[in-house]
Amino acid sequence: MNSVKNISKKNPESLYPSYLVNIINDRLNDYLKDYKDIPEGLLKPINYCLLGGGKRLRPVLCLSTAKGLGCEMDYVMPTACAIEFIHNYSLIHDDLPAIDNDDFRRGRPSCHKKFGEASAILAGDALFAEAFGLIIKKQDCIPETKVKILREIIEATGLSGMVSGQFVDISTSRSGISKKSLEKMHFDKTARLIDVSVTSSAILCNAEDEIIRKLKIYGQNIGTAFQITDDILDMKESEGGIDVKNKKPVSQEKNTFPYVWGLEISKKIAERKIENALNAIKGIDMDFTLLENIAKFILLRKA
Ligand code: IPE
Ligand code: IPE
Ligand code: MG
Ligand code: MG
Repeated sequence: MNSVKNISKKNPESLYPSYLVNIINDRLNDYLKDYKDIPEGLLKPINYCLLGGGKRLRPVLCLSTAKGLGCEMDYVMPTACAIEFIHNYSLIHDDLPAIDNDDFRRGRPSCHKKFGEASAILAGDALFAEAFGLIIKKQDCIPETKVKILREIIEATGLSGMVSGQFVDISTSRSGISKKSLEKMHFDKTARLIDVSVTSSAILCNAEDEIIRKLKIYGQNIGTAFQITDDILDMKESEGGIDVKNKKPVSQEKNTFPYVWGLEISKKIAERKIENALNAIKGIDMDFTLLENIAKFILLRKA
């Protein structure tokens, strides 16, 4: 039985396939070495952000989906890394003064604090464009499949996905957002990129449409749960109204699940989403142990 009730005693770290992180880091490093004759001032912030830690959740999901489908993990690596490029671009821009104005990321000065705003904006722009370059140049598949995954990624990241979610995030507040819009905003800004990390891999591995449909439900549910647990962790870390990571007061107008719904209900919503995700892949006759464990990790993680 896949109930989330049975997993609460697990050590979250033991559920995450961390061995994949080193493999992904090596490949990201290799891809960056391919860029020649790029201005130092641009390559430095890109290296700093892209190679500066992080859980690599999205490429880990891409590789884990391939493994579950009986496909070589290495085969989907260019797309996995391209999605990590996009994720890092989104974090660099998210931290900018005009968006979240955060001085720290992954325990170090954020990109604009270290290199200045102009370089951070341009480093983000470059990562977004080069993500598509990576898929076009390095992903080995038939042109029809390539167009299909590019389309999926564009839809997940552009005006029907992450960028719109980010816009709604910065232009609404806790008291001004409906619960329905709150859910949609989280879905767009975070869940769609997580969903496409799973589904693009399934498309590349020629999974049947019905399996892709179920994996999409998995991706969307863990994606929203991921943002909820992230906001719960942020709330717990903010002692006495101070965001300890960023050393600034926390706005009580934050439009996150824990601020709008409260901590306990938010935990329940995250649990239900992880349960939905586990149920979606339960019936597939393939070994999705990695995906199951990652879903449980998202619920239990402490960082
Ligand atoms: C942080 O994402 C931003 C959110 C979508 C919540 P991650 O927690 O995946 O960031 P890194 O890459 O591990 O630092
Ligand atoms: C980040 O959301 C989502 C994207 C970058 C698309 P948050 O702003 O909530 O995440 P953190 O707290 O900065 O990592
Ligand atoms: Mg933000
Ligand atoms: Mg932020």
